[in-house]
Amino acid sequence: MVIPAQEKEAIFEKILARIEQVLQLPVSVEERLHHVCELLAEQVPYYHWVGFYLVDSQSPRELVLGPFVGEPTEHTRIPFGRGICGQAAERGETFVVQDVSQETNYLSCSVHVRSEIVVPIFKEGKIVGGLDIDSHDLEPFSKEDQIYLEKICDRISQIL
Ligand code: SME
Repeated sequence: MVIPAQEKEAIFEKILARIEQVLQLPVSVEERLHHVCELLAEQVPYYHWVGFYLVDSQSPRELVLGPFVGEPTEHTRIPFGRGICGQAAERGETFVVQDVSQETNYLSCSVHVRSEIVVPIFKEGKIVGGLDIDSHDLEPFSKEDQIYLEKICDRISQIL
């Protein structure tokens, strides 16, 4: 699915505004994160699985699955360095995989997934988790996805 940059920007601006409202809701952090997942999955037509992995406070080099929307996954704990999520956490930078069949260090969740983007979340300079998005489309991500998802993660880190 090819969405022109301007149209994508409009979608993401709307999401950012809605996220501001969601983050103010008087509900648990978990519930607010789940709302953010719902918003992204509803508003971006090629986001088919959206979820958070959070660094385990007991085991700081492991990620634990947090709120998500989409098919259940067996990958509920991911060590740093493993898969796209673990590599993004290890490197501390956004990891975009436009075609998962080309990535050897990849943990498959569903045969339908063809691409993935993982954006790390930092708090006071330390990695605290990541936002993981899977798509059933090939090469769907452009610089707008990365720019806006990084903005969203910056904002989310303030409630963690
Ligand atoms: N594909 C991920 C694992 C998590 S699922 O996408 C939900 C990875 O390689 O880290």
